[in-house]
Amino acid sequence: MINEKLPKIIYGGDYSPEQWPQETWDNDMELFADAGIDVATINVFSWAINQPDEDTYNFEWLDKVMDKLADRGMYACLATSTAAHPAWMAKRYPEVLSVDFDGRKRKFGMRHNSCPNSPVYRKYSRLMAQKLAERYRDHPALLLWHINNEYISDCYCDTCAAEFRKWLQRRYGSLQELNRAWYTAFWSHTFYDWDEIVPPNVQSEHWTPDKTAFPGISLDYARFHSESVLACYLEEYEAIKAVTPNVKVTTNYHGAGTYKPLDYFEWAKHMDIVAWDNYPSIDTPVSQIAFRHDLMRGMKDGAPYMIMEQTPSQQNWQPYNSLKRPGVMRLLSYQAVARGADGILFFQLKKSRGGCEKFHGAVIDHLPTTETRVFQECAALGQELKQLGDILLDSRVSARVAILFDWENWWAVEYSSGPTQQLKYVNEVQKFYDAFFSQHIPVDIISVDTDLTQYDIVIAPVLYMVKNGYERKLKAFVEAGGFLWATFFSGIVNESDLVTTSGYPGVLRDLLGVWVEELDALRPEDSNSLTLHPGNLGFERTYTCNMICEVVHPETAETVATYNKDFYRGGAAVTRNRYGSGEAWYVATNPEQKFIKDLALVLCEQKGILPLLDNKEEGIEVSRRYSDSHVFTFYLNHLDENATIDLGAAEVFELLQKKAVSGKQHVPPKGVLICQQPIR
Ligand code: GLA
Ligand code: ZN
Repeated sequence: MINEKLPKIIYGGDYSPEQWPQETWDNDMELFADAGIDVATINVFSWAINQPDEDTYNFEWLDKVMDKLADRGMYACLATSTAAHPAWMAKRYPEVLSVDFDGRKRKFGMRHNSCPNSPVYRKYSRLMAQKLAERYRDHPALLLWHINNEYISDCYCDTCAAEFRKWLQRRYGSLQELNRAWYTAFWSHTFYDWDEIVPPNVQSEHWTPDKTAFPGISLDYARFHSESVLACYLEEYEAIKAVTPNVKVTTNYHGAGTYKPLDYFEWAKHMDIVAWDNYPSIDTPVSQIAFRHDLMRGMKDGAPYMIMEQTPSQQNWQPYNSLKRPGVMRLLSYQAVARGADGILFFQLKKSRGGCEKFHGAVIDHLPTTETRVFQECAALGQELKQLGDILLDSRVSARVAILFDWENWWAVEYSSGPTQQLKYVNEVQKFYDAFFSQHIPVDIISVDTDLTQYDIVIAPVLYMVKNGYERKLKAFVEAGGFLWATFFSGIVNESDLVTTSGYPGVLRDLLGVWVEELDALRPEDSNSLTLHPGNLGFERTYTCNMICEVVHPETAETVATYNKDFYRGGAAVTRNRYGSGEAWYVATNPEQKFIKDLALVLCEQKGILPLLDNKEEGIEVSRRYSDSHVFTFYLNHLDENATIDLGAAEVFELLQKKAVSGKQHVPPKGVLICQQPIR
């Protein structure tokens, strides 16, 4: 459970009372109570107030806020205030200021403004966390710790350079080994002294953030950077845990969910609860949001996670900050719950008067009244979540299909110069996700550490980099009867981005039963097509394909589909290799979405995996959570019109209307049904 003190889906958001006169605080809290809010995320950006100079700390204001929350039976998700350092610190210790990708030393300003390897930043952020933990360890309002805020950073300073060299010494032991791994014989890069190595940015190896002359060094810097930022988090985490070992600690992942610079699977190992910030635009496809939820659920093998931030209405930082239409905030909140979240929080509870976020949506508007549409929608949801109580808590989504997602592979694929700039890792993963999502088949998003034995089908999109030994895990999975679905541009390199010279797809060659001789990159205006042969899947069909067409020699694999054009016409485009009791599928090109959907369904049928809903109507989302005693099926209507779903003859209990239902049901526009059934 996220928290025993509050056995319900926790509901609240960021609140910055330090921006307001104290006389307004009571009224704010009354409005929170009216909205059914039970948690305020406080102290997020108040370092400069908490520590006006190097030796002075001032927490009186925070004491009052904590007391006021406790007086009303509310709780604090207590942040550590370290996401923006104070101006005095930058003036006295310029080393805390980071150096950007262009090599410019920053001056004081903005937030996320600290070098992650700065000893001064590390010392004072750790100390802040410790002081807060000591002060509030027994406070009744303390519910959770929230370290920093949405870690973002980028630094190429001399401190980082020195730390990077130490990190490299630990990783490689010798320069000889580093030179080998980085392939430095290329372009006269042989290093004879560790001091010769500088961080890879636009002043050294890069043309742009994604284009590098040396993928080896860039990959290592990406790893080093993610670990350096994580080390900042860990300094605070350990300081807090030393004082309050039983209070859970989190931080909020960036709104992108798939935030490239930080390897969130590595981070999740050090978080008690995973939390992320969900900021879709008005036109973000529903499946993109769902994918990110499933990624968050995958962070800790299916454990409940939290939405730390979503806007009740609009953002301020998009080019066009559209309002969330009536019902959308509620719908997206239930989407999170449907996919495994046990906490729904907002940014923000009260709109700022100044600064760049003064037009960002909030539960309480500039006119602090209960009369606004947004307040009323928030309050209605607050009442519903109260009424749901603890019934959904800790229930789990269950999937038999998994899609692999790997940050290091992502970095490597996109650092690769060639075969095509069109190849974007997250897009590829999303395509597979969409195919299952649109057919109401649940999937888990997994890391390379996840145990595969719980799945029937594993999809590894663009597994360009195969981490040391991962091929053995895949082989064991297929041998035992699993279906693996691999794609073009797989098995090409090892963890140092060195090509495996035993023929593509390298260490996956015997598992997939193919040798890939050449990779043809198609211009965006060009395409090919592939035809499935009737003997294989029981139907004959032609699909377009583009971006990459590989020239494949099936070895032990059989050909399932062939290309229709070009000099590789008639050559294998899709193959299946029987391996042990399972099958390894290889799709050597980028087919149209219909193909991915069709093959997904064929494989699921063979494994007896049934969709959660037969109705293929676009716009209806279905997800299921299981507790020990019950199954909860969520039906979410993302459409602007009524949808009809068929629940079948047996009665189920609908949790929001609190009544038994069966047969055909209307789900209103943006409406939600949560149907509960006992597990027999
Ligand atoms: C991020 C930050 C918040 C706030 C919101 C605005 O998620 O964590 O502090 O700036 O964006 O959308
Ligand atoms: Zn730095």
